[in-house]
Amino acid sequence: MAASAGDELASSLPRETRYPPFPLRRYGGFWLPEYALPGVAAARTRFEPRPSDVFLASVPKSGTTWLKAIAFATASRAEHPPSGDAHPLRRRGPHDCVPFFEFTLAYPGDDALAALPPPRLLSTHLPYSLLPERLTADGGSSCRIVYICRDPKDVLVSWWLFVKKSMAAASYTIKEALEQFCDGRCVAGPQWRHALEYREESRRRPEKVLFLRYEEMLREPARAVRRLAEFMGCPFSGEEEAAGVVDDIVDLCSFGHLTSLEVNKTGVTSWRYNSVANGSFFRKGVAGDWSNHMSPEMAARLDGVVEEPGLASLPMA
Ligand code: A3P
Repeated sequence: MAASAGDELASSLPRETRYPPFPLRRYGGFWLPEYALPGVAAARTRFEPRPSDVFLASVPKSGTTWLKAIAFATASRAEHPPSGDAHPLRRRGPHDCVPFFEFTLAYPGDDALAALPPPRLLSTHLPYSLLPERLTADGGSSCRIVYICRDPKDVLVSWWLFVKKSMAAASYTIKEALEQFCDGRCVAGPQWRHALEYREESRRRPEKVLFLRYEEMLREPARAVRRLAEFMGCPFSGEEEAAGVVDDIVDLCSFGHLTSLEVNKTGVTSWRYNSVANGSFFRKGVAGDWSNHMSPEMAARLDGVVEEPGLASLPMA
């Protein structure tokens, strides 16, 4: 599938237009933004993986912004000490520090990814099965992938409120959002199949795919930072541990700190396809807020849909 064939391909795929922010197309069993399809095609033909690349994968509203901040602060700590006043995360939003892979590639001629210094951190909402084969094939590239998974009920509520507020869809109801989510008709949906694919691969190749849970990260952020550093091949030294670098990263990337920064209060992240106020990527940053927006019946409906394929029964990573 050549990049130029992306548009052609898109026009032949099932389309969902009732989704408020943008039309979706169903490809490879997943619903993706129509505008991302050329990028999916280009990822297969134009993307040159480097062995040191690290992909940060997620369904939107699972904690992507937080994972970007932590991974960036961890990978670049030699160049940018996390306690330093000049740290890039104090001036730039996390989405400005780690680009989206498929959305950037959707624009031929945009060589922003090629220009990134190693190790490249690249974010993706693509399911594992739609990543370029060069990344996933046994014996293929030695890139690493970090996945962040979150309780689907919190993902749904977070997305619903994000769309209502940031995508000018004030009349979008939680009931509509729930039905679409349960039907898998949301960005990168079905969410549970997305998570299961990465979970499965993390069991098969734990040295290549790290499966993190948002709720666990909230409980033990320092543990998550250490695991991430080890996985990325840059574990903390005894001197760094003694100097409190892990806690510095946790504090730098905490919800409270990031939301206190001017760049995340008033700044905007501009992509080629749209612009989003940085503030809209931060709301409450807790586990279980779904119970303030969903009835027990709604929750049971979603739990039932998700339980069937077994995501809920997966042991914590
Ligand atoms: P809520 O809407 O439940 O508060 P994504 O980055 O994938 O779009 O996910 C957004 C969700 O992650 C939002 O959840 C947001 O508040 C939360 N979030 C953003 N930054 C965070 C941080 N530093 N710590 C914890 N949660 C964070």
